[in-house]
Amino acid sequence: MIYKAVRGTKDILPDETGKWQYVIKSAREIFDKYGYSEIITPIFESTELFTRGIGETTDIVTKEMYTFIDKKGRSLTLRPEGTSGVIRAYLENGLYNKPSPVKLYYIGPMFRYERPQSGRYREHWQIGVEAIGSDNPALDAEVINCIIDLLKRLGVGGLATQLNSIGCLECRKKYIVALKGFLEGKIDGLCEVCKERIEKNPLRILDCKEESCKSIFKDKKAPKILEFLCEQCKVHFDLVKEYLKLLQIKYEINPYLVRGFDYYTKTVFEIVSDRLGAQNAIVGGGRYNNLVEELGGKLTPAVGFAMGIERLLLSLDTLGINIPYDKKVDVFIAYLGDEALKKSLEISLILREAGYKVLTIFENKSLKSQLKIADQYNADKVIIIGDNELKQKTVILRNMKDGTQRNVEFPNLLKEIKNI
Ligand code: HAM
Repeated sequence: MIYKAVRGTKDILPDETGKWQYVIKSAREIFDKYGYSEIITPIFESTELFTRGIGETTDIVTKEMYTFIDKKGRSLTLRPEGTSGVIRAYLENGLYNKPSPVKLYYIGPMFRYERPQSGRYREHWQIGVEAIGSDNPALDAEVINCIIDLLKRLGVGGLATQLNSIGCLECRKKYIVALKGFLEGKIDGLCEVCKERIEKNPLRILDCKEESCKSIFKDKKAPKILEFLCEQCKVHFDLVKEYLKLLQIKYEINPYLVRGFDYYTKTVFEIVSDRLGAQNAIVGGGRYNNLVEELGGKLTPAVGFAMGIERLLLSLDTLGINIPYDKKVDVFIAYLGDEALKKSLEISLILREAGYKVLTIFENKSLKSQLKIADQYNADKVIIIGDNELKQKTVILRNMKDGTQRNVEFPNLLKEIKNI
């Protein structure tokens, strides 16, 4: 029997890991420019961290967590997202003693028991940042700028950045009253889940993907949270927009954008692609000024985002963008016979020390098949060693670009390779 990967998980095969690494490398470079340092937190945490952090009534906490009891009876959960763990680490390790904002980034797998479909998996990878310790709207704009920069670096321009403010708890209280008022008489039209959400988590109804619920909001007559912002939240949002303009970042206001976590306050945003179908958000983020306090620290404002690597790569595919990662082999060594194999090992060592990517095979194959393999690896240069070459203490050096080849003596090999 051949085992299969568990439903909702997938292998990232060698053909794809090059792209994957390129995305990660680019992210590290951009985040470094913005002053973020990497943090690595555990893949599992106590379940309570997520129920407190993300919110007890959210879909993630009620339906999507991989929770298990360990051998000592503790309830643990595979992290469904990165922000809660980063804030736990920030508090536990006294990172608040560093100058604010403390800028952290992370890269790693997240786990959600969702219904798998294109762009939605039960294990997915996120690249995210958290900037902790400032409520300045310029930081919101800088955080958005940072991810736009990364997308530009990857060759993706022109994705839509959707922006909204969901205000503070006070703004939201008033808004929820208005939203419930609007929904009066329409409750029968809501899906079963949203009927329950009315009391527990009414904002999420705005974001339900069921046609029945979507149709209630499609004429955009529902009250907009932006109209319920208190003076402070309104000024904050106006400044975020002003700074984004200053940074020449295009955005669309989506007054019905709410996100699936209770920790958000004020700014929320998503970067979406219209070519991805239902799972169209590549990046999601926002400000969460109450989370640090919720998790036991002092009231500390923060803002961040996360991008899903799988969804990013899917969208690059749909946009026909090729990531310029290098799979090329510099030198392929083809050899005939055991003595020539020994020589090829010696030469490999010297060339690798000099920084070349060198490949050889470990089976007896004809020269013709070895050259075919060299072609498959896109090798720039091929070294050929047979009996004659061994006797003459030379190798044949072939330039695969123009097909020319010549005999080179062992001591001159490195120099000649450099010259090609
Ligand atoms: P999120 O929107 O839940 O936000 O996830 C961020 C990104 O992860 C999404 O935009 C999407 O690209 C990817 N993603 C989420 N779920 C899946 C899935 N099941 N399969 C594939 N990709 C997925 C957060 O997690 C917040 N912690 C972001 C944040 C950081 N907010 C502030 N700081």
